[in-house]
Amino acid sequence: MSDKNAGHQTSRFVVLVTMLGVFAAAPLRAVSPDIATTTRKVVLEKSGAGYRWKLTEAPVPAVGDRQVLIRVHAVGLNRGDLSMLEPDSDNERVGRVAASDAAGEVIAVGKQVKGIRKGARVTNTFFENWTDGRFSGERLAHAYGWTADGVLADYIALESTDVVPIPDELSYEEAATLPTAGVTAWNAVAGHRDIHPGDVVLVQGTGGVSTFATQFAAALGAHVIVTSSSDEKLLRVKGLGASEGINYKREPAWSERVLQLTKGHGADLVVDVGGTDTLDQSVRTLADAGTLSIVGGLSGYDGSISAWGLLKKAANAQSVFVGSRADYLRMNTFIVAHRLHPVIERVFPLEQYDEALKTLAAGNFIGKIVLTL
Ligand SMILES: NC(=O)c1ccc[n+]([C@@H]2O[C@H](COP(=O)([O-])OP(=O)(O)OC[C@H]3O[C@@H](n4cnc5c(N)ncnc54)[C@H](OP(=O)(O)O)[C@@H]3O)[C@@H](O)[C@H]2O)c1
Repeated sequence: MSDKNAGHQTSRFVVLVTMLGVFAAAPLRAVSPDIATTTRKVVLEKSGAGYRWKLTEAPVPAVGDRQVLIRVHAVGLNRGDLSMLEPDSDNERVGRVAASDAAGEVIAVGKQVKGIRKGARVTNTFFENWTDGRFSGERLAHAYGWTADGVLADYIALESTDVVPIPDELSYEEAATLPTAGVTAWNAVAGHRDIHPGDVVLVQGTGGVSTFATQFAAALGAHVIVTSSSDEKLLRVKGLGASEGINYKREPAWSERVLQLTKGHGADLVVDVGGTDTLDQSVRTLADAGTLSIVGGLSGYDGSISAWGLLKKAANAQSVFVGSRADYLRMNTFIVAHRLHPVIERVFPLEQYDEALKTLAAGNFIGKIVLTL
């Protein structure tokens, strides 16, 4: 866990606050030369059939009328940051700014922006311009780091509708874990059905999405069962509220163990991050009228599920694609009410991005990996 509000304590912050007086008199579209003229940013370039990252310098972006300029302090990493480096014939990524989740401080505000002040602590949303309502496929063309430029830079300009205030209780590092993994887990656990105290929730794994899912389900009073490849990780998630753990390496037929542990009841909710290799057991694990939340594809996204496996229990399967800004705000309210803090295994400086990605790939962590800028 990182220090709370670490960004507030740096001398850089003090300098920045002193400089904010300059902004008060400066035209909103221009960035004061006294603050910064260039920003570091991490962009992708071709490497074989896939991509590698490189650190570049670019002008600090101008702030549009409906935008805010953010000094980024922390960037949360996701499994997706590894996928972004892989070949993808449908999505050319040369020159794209990396990463999806940033937390920082608003240092300039466009003249048509209302309700956001300089000095506000914010993160971005995962999708551009999904404020509320149902998902639509068009969103997929507007995902930070994936189909739109990402956020791994000292300065980023975002539409004011694509930022979310950081609760006072959370540090920049903690907040940087929320836009993708936090909101996804929130919708996987609380998005499709009410969880009642005593309901059984099965969570697969102990990574970013799964650790949030465990925390949210436990805070709702559920009986949480976690599967993991590691006994040590299972012990750690018990400290987050998990009631029981199953080592899926030692017990590959983990769905049978879930039925044993629950005296045949099964899981009222299953959060599936495994995909192809886990979906079949996830369906077997469901209780009558249970819900399968399809989230991840760690072993592939094109798995299949048995219609009869669902039908005979009148169960349902729903998928989650992160969520809207409104979902994010609801999650933040819950986080504050339940005094939750994201679990951060390690924080790396930007200069050690390679090391951070290697740690992510090795999977030898629970919760999240974060970069500081
Ligand atoms: N649908 C969406 O909106 C959405 C959003 C974010 C992420 N995702 C997807 O969700 C998945 C998880 O993402 P993440 O960022 O949380 O990844 P992560 O932080 O890297 O965590 C992955 C963890 O999953 C566990 N795992 C791996 N294979 C497993 C298996 N066969 N059965 C059970 N657990 C397994 C491992 O836990 P142990 O080490 O404990 O075994 C691993 O640490 C990825 O496929 C990602 O692309 C989807």
